[in-house]
Amino acid sequence: MAPDRSAIVLTLEGVVAGYGPMTILHGTTFAVERAKITTVIGPNGAGKSTVFKAVFGLIKVRTGRIAFGGEDVTNLAPRQLLAKGISYVPQGRNIFPELTVLHNLELGGIAAPPEIDLPARIEAALDRFPILRSKAKAQASTLSGGQQKMLEIARSMLLDPRLLLIDEPSIGLSPMMVRETFDILKDLRDRGTTILLIEQNARSALQMSDRGLVLEQGQTRLADTAKALLNDPRVGELFLGGGSRPEHGAEEK
Ligand SMILES: Nc1ncnc2c1ncn2[C@@H]1O[C@H](COP(=O)(O)OP(=O)(O)O)[C@@H](O)[C@H]1O
Ligand SMILES: [Mg+2]
Repeated sequence: MAPDRSAIVLTLEGVVAGYGPMTILHGTTFAVERAKITTVIGPNGAGKSTVFKAVFGLIKVRTGRIAFGGEDVTNLAPRQLLAKGISYVPQGRNIFPELTVLHNLELGGIAAPPEIDLPARIEAALDRFPILRSKAKAQASTLSGGQQKMLEIARSMLLDPRLLLIDEPSIGLSPMMVRETFDILKDLRDRGTTILLIEQNARSALQMSDRGLVLEQGQTRLADTAKALLNDPRVGELFLGGGSRPEHGAEEK
């Protein structure tokens, strides 16, 4: 099923991008619906993270077009995209371990326009994530991996973005923290945030998603409802990274 055209908030059309002489995205095209969770899956090296870097202005789009809210945002700088309501949580740990939890959170407001009431935003974030309030004065390094990811999400949501790009948040987290992280994403979606998520944990991510995209070799292979993808035998094949591993590999992570 194609996305509802009237509800599309982000589109990539024929995006070509890469690193130096290397081309990774070979005309990537897809559309993302507003206030939905769309999960991007695909084998390692497919270009999933590269798509996010292209959308967030971290690498140059050579040809093609990226539109957000109907506006051409191709090759804008990250701070311009932040101002337009796009937020990005990269893969891995992105907190400042030596700084307090509160100070890390405050950094989410560094690009805030003057009319924003930052202390109120920070209070609201601490209300929403009680664990961050209880550890507000502690060094961020004392948080567990899951709590650190929560801090990153809270920081990225401080300016109330319309679109959150989140790359592999579940890596290294316990199953309980993965569920908690997914619950946070569902809650953000229910409050109207559009979420584009990259996940290795494809099955459980699709189970909580509205839509999914399968990316392979820098191109969209499949784009459908999450449910349709879960039931699509081709998806199992792609999960195996080309089908060279045994079938049961598709069941795990
Ligand atoms: N900074 C970089 N410089 C050069 N090549 C890179 C860089 N980042 C990623 N690549 C290459 O781009 C390809 C796609 O990477 P990536 O988008 O990270 O894939 P995925 O997220 O789907 O696993 C891989 O072959 C990877 O080695
Ligand atoms: Mg990646």
